[in-house]
Formats: sequence, C-alpha cells, structure tokens
Amino acid sequence: MSHTPLSLRELPLLRTRHLGQIGGLMRPGTHRSPLLELGERFVVSPPGFPDMLVTHDMDDVRELFANHDDFSVGQVLSRFSSHDAMFGKQTLIFLDGDEHRRERRLFAPPFQSKALRSYEELMVEVVERELPTWPVGEPFEFLKAGYDLAIGVLLAVVFGDVAPARRDRLKQAVSQWFGEIESRGFLAVTLLTPLIGGYTLPYPPLRRRQAEVDAVIIEEIAARRAEPGDRSGRKDVLSRYVGTELDQHDDDALARNMRGILLGAYETTAITLGWIAAMLAGHPQAMAELDAAADAGDGERLDAYLDAVVAETMRLRPVSPFTGRRALRDTVLNGIRIPKGAIVIVPILLIHESPRHYTDPMVFRPERFLEERPNGQTWLTFGAGAHRCLGAQFALVEARILFRTVLEQRRIQAAPGPIEPPRRYHTGLSPADNARITLLPR
Ligand code: HEM
Repeated sequence: MSHTPLSLRELPLLRTRHLGQIGGLMRPGTHRSPLLELGERFVVSPPGFPDMLVTHDMDDVRELFANHDDFSVGQVLSRFSSHDAMFGKQTLIFLDGDEHRRERRLFAPPFQSKALRSYEELMVEVVERELPTWPVGEPFEFLKAGYDLAIGVLLAVVFGDVAPARRDRLKQAVSQWFGEIESRGFLAVTLLTPLIGGYTLPYPPLRRRQAEVDAVIIEEIAARRAEPGDRSGRKDVLSRYVGTELDQHDDDALARNMRGILLGAYETTAITLGWIAAMLAGHPQAMAELDAAADAGDGERLDAYLDAVVAETMRLRPVSPFTGRRALRDTVLNGIRIPKGAIVIVPILLIHESPRHYTDPMVFRPERFLEERPNGQTWLTFGAGAHRCLGAQFALVEARILFRTVLEQRRIQAAPGPIEPPRRYHTGLSPADNARITLLPR
C-alpha cells in the first residue's frame, strides 16, 4: 500500500518568535532544548527564508545522506554563509550529482589509507619543531598551538618540498588570506549574506588575497611539471595530482581546489586539537590511561586509547553542530514531500547527545569507542554520504599522531572541573578560553 507523502505543513512548526531556541541545538546540552517537545521533526519557516525541516529521525537522516542526486550541500552553505566566496563555487563541496562524483574520484586518492601512512613522519616532524616553543609548567593556550600544528602539517603534506623562497611566499600569502577571512569587513559580509537571500557581497580585499595564494600555487604546479625525471619520490598531495587527469583542468581550477583543501582542513583540525587538549585536561582518568601507556612505552595501547579519545571528543564537540542539504528539485524524503529549494537540517550535536544512540551520552568516556569504532550513522562529525569529509581519515590519523608525539614528551596537567565552554566561531564551536592547559615534562 503506498501512502501519500506528508507535506511540510503537516509537521510541527516552530513559531518565528521561538526561532532563538535553535541556538540551543548548537551548544552542548541539547537535551535540555525545549525543541525536543516538538518531536523528531519540526519545520522552521521564517519570513524571507526557505522552508527548513530539522530532523533527527534516523531514517530521514539516512535517506537524506544517501540521496546525492536530489540534494545539495553547497546550496545550504551559499544560502547561509559566505563559504562560496571563501572556497570558490567550483570547489568540491559546491558541486552536485555526477559532476561532484567525477571530481571527488579524482581528488580522493591522496586522502585514502594507503597514502596516509606516507605522511606520518611529516606529522611527527612538525610536532618536534613546534613543541620546544611551548611553555612548560605554566598555563598556555593550546588552541594556538593547534593552529600552528594544523598549518605546519598541511603545508608539509599538501605541498611537500617547495623551494625556500617560494615556500616563504606561500606561507605569507596563506596567512594574509586567513587574516582577511577573519577581518571585521569580511565578517560583516558573512553576517549580511543570509539576510539578503544568500548573496555574498563582493569583497575585493579577500579576492586579492586569494589571487595571491593561487598565483604561488600555480607557479609551484608549473615547477613540478618542469621537474626532470619521475615524481615518484614525492609523496605530497600536489605531486599526486600533477600528471593525473586533474592536471588537465586549467591551473586556476587546480589551484582553487588546493586552496579549498587548505581552508577546509585548517580551522576544523586546529579547533579539534584544541578540544582534545581541553577534554584531556578535564578528565584525569583518561589522562591517567594515556600516561600509563606512554610511561610503559606501549605505543599500541597509546594509539588505541588516543583513537578513542579523538572519537569521543569529536562526538561531544563536533566542529559543526549541524549539517544540511537543499533540495535541487521536488522530491520525497522518507515519506515527506520536500519542495525544490527547501532545506533539510541534520542536528549533529543533538544526535551525538541522544540517549537513544549513546549510553550516558553527556559523559566523556573514550572506552565506548575502544571496542566499537564510531558508527557512521550516529557519529556524524564528518557528515555522511557522498559529501562526507574528504579528509576524515586524514584528520583522525593526524590527531592521533600529533597527540602521541606530544604525550611521549609531555604530560597534560589534570584540571578537573567543568570543561571550557564553547564560543561560536563562524558556524562552529571553539573552546572559549583557547583550550588553556598546562604541560609538564614527562
Ligand atoms: C577535524 C577535522 C575536520 C572536520 C570536523 C571536518 C568536517 C567536515 C564536514 C562536516 C564536512 C561536510 C560533510 C557533510 O555535510 O556531509 C566536510 C567536508 C569536506 N572536508 Fe572536512 N573536516 C575536517 C578536516 C578536513 C581535512 C583535514 C580535509 C582535507 C585534507 C578536509 C577536506 C574536506 C573536503 C574537501 C570536504 C568536501 C567534500 C565533498 O564535498 O565531497 N576536511 N568536512
């Protein structure tokens, strides 16, 4: 028997005057949200915005992520944020359907398991370089170290050996570009975008900075092509792209995508490293387990427990508390009619904090991931489906290796008590006091 699909009008509606309550789904403690009374699905329909279905019905969520042809993630980002101006509309996350599938296949190999092993040494080297600059025995903001580690690893892994003069120019161009993204001017543009129908006002200073980064990358692509002999000794991401089908794209497109990878990877990784440090400082039992493994020189035990710590931190502090998809055409999602242009929002943090999916969901307990790896349906830090984060595996390996290398040389002083609250950062959550911890010698 076939049922007529429900229309959005038949689902509970969140009144416009209660819209502010949505903020409660973006901060830890979602289980206290009055929105839970509306059930697993509700509709938000503020004037001037597309209709939005917020759902944590897991059948809806599964079906949404599986339907790559009727939904777009890029159109959500461009409706609510200035990500399209930051990344460029031709980068992976803004592509849909077959075009996305084709490009994703080309960009994926350097981020798959086989390639990941070849980056491990580079990751260790970056920690060895940064660690001596961090204070010992006094509080410091680990988030800042997280940013330094994230960019150090990215430049090493994505570009590999670059001639010193060009490397300096690349670093400077990237840092000025990131600075422009943080500028007040661009922040104003970002805040305005959702209010003016998703149109991102042109912001020439950002465009100039992006062009400067692209120019150095294009120079580097040309230099790689001109290198005599084969490039098999080079393991970096760019060298893995040069000479492949991707290299048939125009150089501008390849440069833009390389820049997109840097941007997608940088902040997310840095913030996650900050949260891991804050969580470890606040949970002496977890720290004791890591100390025992590190003191015994038991690398396997250290790695296994660290993987569990990383997964548990990402469950309770996913960088993005939401993801979503916008309907490219009229479609049906698990028996609900979704008109073209409507948006479906998945409240990731709410799912991560739900007692239906996790026992004692608000407790930081890495042990839950020791026997069982995170379940791809209810652990959604990297999203899911065809647009699932391209760098997910990379980010997990990186977090484990960076912390393993740090913990082999330092302890994190226990600071039991409440974990730092989060502060809103673009669409995500970052530790409010920049992950203030104290390192001690090991
Ligand atoms: C802790 C670190 C990271 C987090 C939390 C994170 C999170 C995410 C999320 C939530 C998405 C959207 C997925 C969806 O809506 O289904 C995404 C997409 C993406 N991420 Fe990440 N990310 C991280 C690190 C990285 C790294 C290290 C890279 C590259 C080296 C990367 C590259 C990308 C790319 C290219 C996409 C778009 C994929 C596509 O559209 O096919 N990310 N990421």
